[in-house]
Amino acid sequence: MNSSSVFLLLLLLASSSASAFNITRMLDQYPDFSNFNSLLTQTHLASEINSRQTITVLVVDNGAVSGLYSSPADVQKHVLSVHVVLDYYDMEKLKQSSKKSTLLTTLFQSSGLATNQQGFINVTIDKSSGEISMGSAVPGSTLDARVVKQVASSPYNISVLQVSTLIRPAGIDDANASKAPVPSPKAASPAPAAAPSGASSPSPVADGPAADAESPVPEAPASSQAPADSPAADGPEAYSPPLSARFGSSSPIAEGPTPDHSSTTATRVVLVSCLGLIVGVVCMAFL
Ligand SMILES: *[C@@H]1O[C@H](CO)[C@@H](O)[C@H](O)[C@H]1NC(C)=O
Ligand SMILES: *[C@@H]1O[C@H](CO)[C@@H](O)[C@H](O)[C@H]1NC(C)=O
Ligand SMILES: *[C@@H]1O[C@H](CO)[C@@H](O)[C@H](O)[C@H]1NC(C)=O
Repeated sequence: MNSSSVFLLLLLLASSSASAFNITRMLDQYPDFSNFNSLLTQTHLASEINSRQTITVLVVDNGAVSGLYSSPADVQKHVLSVHVVLDYYDMEKLKQSSKKSTLLTTLFQSSGLATNQQGFINVTIDKSSGEISMGSAVPGSTLDARVVKQVASSPYNISVLQVSTLIRPAGIDDANASKAPVPSPKAASPAPAAAPSGASSPSPVADGPAADAESPVPEAPASSQAPADSPAADGPEAYSPPLSARFGSSSPIAEGPTPDHSSTTATRVVLVSCLGLIVGVVCMAFL
């Protein structure tokens, strides 16, 4: 194995661990869908798509997407999110469906803004011609988007299908973005972990550790971590995050900014005892 193939292997490993696929890169190879592709990036839907593991993107060509340009950015995002189906469907899987018509759940449904079936797509297969039609599941909608072809796929994670026209559910232009903020589960989870990681980055500012002159732990990062409403920001509580960081706690989330008082006092006692022991041992060595 020469060095360039080792490099390729490493690159492959690195990219597979980061994200399963990159919709932007997939569509970059098809100039017909370049407008759709740049809208996915502008609306930040591309990263939402990449964060999923099982997804189908319904793309339209450059001519068909132009109807969206006059719409406000939030409407563009809502309409495009109707084209992101939260499951893997390629041509085969659609045709294998035993039912004449099926409802598919889209990313717009998970936004919490959809009403009146706006977040679903109705897929209907004409068993005699084999033609697959799609449209909004809003009652009374016409199924005028025809599935043209399979553009790309990576079974069973991502499939890209071309449809003949944009699917624009009735009333989607009035979907109110401020009615329900869209808290992505991805965005919410790192928040608690972020706080302790701040504590573990050691601040060089140590403004006088008055209580424990021999303590190796500066107070500054701890007190800056303590919540504003804490009555004892520089009390014993303040020691906990840097201590856990220094002693390599494997679960930084467990050591929140407001830990239980008795356990931190205990930790402090242990620290002081350890220091005493070390000083004792060093003294013994000199005696
Ligand atoms: C594909 O999706 C499955 C779940 O459906 C997941 O376990 C797997 O990790 C995904 N593959 C990649 C390369 O992300
Ligand atoms: C996806 O690919 C595009 C184009 O190659 C690149 O600009 C972007 O950084 C990639 N995104 C990720 C998350 O790798
Ligand atoms: C899907 O559309 C077809 C044709 O308009 C309709 O007959 C069918 O009832 C719809 N299916 C659902 C589940 O709404």
